[in-house]
Amino acid sequence: MKTIFSGIQPSGTLTLGNYLGAMKHFVDLQEENNCYFCIVDEHAITVPQERLKLRENIKSLAALYIASGIDPKKSILFIQSEVPAHTQLGWILQSISYIGELERMTQFKDKSNGKEAVSSALLTYPPPLMAADILLYKTDIVPVGDDQKQHLELTRDLAQRFNNRYNDIFTIPEIRVPKVGARIMSLQEPTKKMSKSDENLKASILMLDTDKQIEKKIKSAVTDSDGIVKFDKTNKPGISNLLTIHASCTGESVEDLERKYDGKGYGEFKQETANAVMATLRPIREKYEELMASDELDRLLDEGAEKANFVANKMLAKAKKAIGLGRVKKKR
Ligand code: TYM
Repeated sequence: MKTIFSGIQPSGTLTLGNYLGAMKHFVDLQEENNCYFCIVDEHAITVPQERLKLRENIKSLAALYIASGIDPKKSILFIQSEVPAHTQLGWILQSISYIGELERMTQFKDKSNGKEAVSSALLTYPPPLMAADILLYKTDIVPVGDDQKQHLELTRDLAQRFNNRYNDIFTIPEIRVPKVGARIMSLQEPTKKMSKSDENLKASILMLDTDKQIEKKIKSAVTDSDGIVKFDKTNKPGISNLLTIHASCTGESVEDLERKYDGKGYGEFKQETANAVMATLRPIREKYEELMASDELDRLLDEGAEKANFVANKMLAKAKKAIGLGRVKKKR
């Protein structure tokens, strides 16, 4: 049995990319592993958030985790800010992180690009805080989408650096990205990642979109004019993205789909891709509505925080001891 950790930011309604790249795979992993899934609200405040909206997004993400199949009896589901050890270990890990290596993170560069005011937390969350999330739980495997690879590599470096410098306490985590669906692209600019924060509303399918919205967005997805359903990321990024989405939703392989739509037009392919997405998201949306209307979520999140605090505090104490923080308490 392995320990699994992953987190998602409550910074807006999740996209189909979040689901196919990450969340969907969490559900399979929980059957045979010791899993922690986190609502990383402290990561979300690295860019300005509206107070009430953030609260709403936190609850909504908790409901989406469960509606997607995370079972709180099998996995520990919790909110990052309810487990203070995350920011405490995050601070310790900042002390062994170098500004140069943090500035090299692509996500930091993208998110800070052209902004007048960039919070220092935007620099120090991926990895020092993200590394803390992972290392607190002796995590073996971190299932994520492709865009988190660089953060995971630095997390591994920080763990190794700490172990070499102080004491060998951290497990070095492995990254796991899905073979298909690790990077779902924008429907409007298929060379760009599908993102929660895209201003073009037609670019991303949101997990809570209605069937009608899904159908409309897929039908207006940017493709090309050669009319051949074939996977070719460089020359046919739009069709390749739709093939990936279709394959991830139905479990069929991209090759099988190419054969199935050989000689057929984009109209039919798009319609059936939309059907596959609708069939994937519809049951999640229905379960989500039920959960949001019940009191169950609060109880589940309380239980999750209690269990996570118990494990995380033990590792934090080890890290503090290894580094020499605080006092050695005498037994009275
Ligand atoms: P976040 O909230 O941006 O994304 C959550 C997960 O969704 C994946 N993802 C995608 N996968 C495929 N295609 C896309 N277009 C797409 N967009 C997003 C992400 O790779 C991620 O797995 N820093 C992290 C959250 C985090 C975390 C952690 C993850 C904080 N601590 C510890 C793992 C372990 C983030 O901002 O993800």
